[in-house]
Amino acid sequence: MRRAVCPGSFDPIHNGHLEVIARASGLFDEVIVAVSTNYAKKYRFTLAERLDMARTTLSALSGIIVEPMGDGLLSDFCHERGASAIVKGLRSSSDFDYELPMATMNRQLSGVETVFLPGESRYLHLSSTLIKEVANLGGDVNDYVPRAVFRRLRGGPDTHPTPVVPRK
Ligand code: PNS
Repeated sequence: MRRAVCPGSFDPIHNGHLEVIARASGLFDEVIVAVSTNYAKKYRFTLAERLDMARTTLSALSGIIVEPMGDGLLSDFCHERGASAIVKGLRSSSDFDYELPMATMNRQLSGVETVFLPGESRYLHLSSTLIKEVANLGGDVNDYVPRAVFRRLRGGPDTHPTPVVPRK
């Protein structure tokens, strides 16, 4: 079983992520989408929301599971799951400069390799940060995010589910 991990904040998951995850699943028997928590980071969505958006979006694809990564080392997470590779998409040379030291560190820590997939050209400008900014300012991000994310960015019904209060 060749298993890979696609790690990220996924705050929120977008079409650039999905494209890389789908390609990773063509290369490995199983892909774990690992949704990270970094307590130094401020997220727009809670971990539960980020997991839910990723699970809803990826549920139709086989061989992909979505899990919380926790707040520990990615190399430990990979080792514990028996994953031989981390898969990351690259949008630019600055992505590569940022990722290379982490890839080397992860390999030295646990032997896990990092596989870089060149990003698909129509998604190279996408980042969760940019998508949130455009959506916040009223721009249309429909072409860039899956439906479950679009609804939440618009503050749709599943963003703040109404608690079911039992009638007296
Ligand atoms: O989507 P992001 O925020 O760019 O994802 C970053 C992520 C989760 C891949 C990165 O922060 C990470 O690897 N975190 C785990 C902590 C860790 O292992 N740090 C050492 C890296 S060598």
